[in-house]
Amino acid sequence: MNALSVSGLTLTCGDTTLVDDLSFELPAGATLGIVGESGSGKSLTLRSVMGILPEAVTRHGEIRCEARTAMVFQEPATALNPTMRVGDLVARTWRRHHPDTSAREARAAAAELFDQVGIDDAVRRLRAWPHELSGGMRQRVMIAAALATDPDVLLCDEPTTALDVRVQAQILQLLRDLVSERGMAMVFVSHDLAVVASVCSQILVMRHGRLVESGPMDRVLAVPQEQYTRDLLAANLARRLADREGVLR
Ligand SMILES: Nc1ncnc2c1ncn2[C@@H]1O[C@H](COP(=O)(O)OP(=O)(O)OP(=O)(O)O)[C@@H](O)[C@H]1O
Ligand SMILES: [Mg+2]
Repeated sequence: MNALSVSGLTLTCGDTTLVDDLSFELPAGATLGIVGESGSGKSLTLRSVMGILPEAVTRHGEIRCEARTAMVFQEPATALNPTMRVGDLVARTWRRHHPDTSAREARAAAAELFDQVGIDDAVRRLRAWPHELSGGMRQRVMIAAALATDPDVLLCDEPTTALDVRVQAQILQLLRDLVSERGMAMVFVSHDLAVVASVCSQILVMRHGRLVESGPMDRVLAVPQEQYTRDLLAANLARRLADREGVLR
């Protein structure tokens, strides 16, 4: 059974085609990484699935999604409301999706979610303001808010790009754990192949709004069929080596 099925997705803005006839399927519980250079249409694809496209963008094609979706954005600092305590954000989101619960129950649920996403001292942290938390903690709050809606599919748009490498690794581990514990499906967007490979078993490569290549992660990394995928692999490897040199210097 597919959690999500996208067929002939085409997005235009005036005369410009931003995403061109994109089709893919996400089986329930599967993990799909979408990679491609900046402007290739990754974010707009996720936004199409969430139904939150910018007004100027017109959509054609079909998106079938029986499942509940939730999205985690790249920059938790801007995605979080600075005037709301982080516990209130998660409790409110929980209550919107569980309308028959009391404020007290929602608060308990928020504390439980903080605990699940690895926020220590969860009950006290519910009262924190976003600016009091580190980038990694803020991203954990965003993930808790996404989980408050009990999603079957978690859409992640570069959720670790703004974080330093050590914190990035912790968040990736958290996502891996959540996916396997909850049996959630996940679509994970990144320009970084190595990051995507560490959390997803399927991959879809995009360029200029078009699908270049897709398939099982292991196969595509070992035997890429398209020159563009090979170039992307080489560029990623070169960057990793350069990072490493930076570390050694
Ligand atoms: N609101 C908008 N109105 C018009 N065009 C847009 C809008 N948002 C994005 N685009 C264009 O659509 C194309 C795809 O954008 P998108 O944000 O999906 O790329 P991306 O792959 O997520 O890139 P990045 O890696 O930089 O996040 C780009 O050419 C972008 O300029
Ligand atoms: Mg993007």
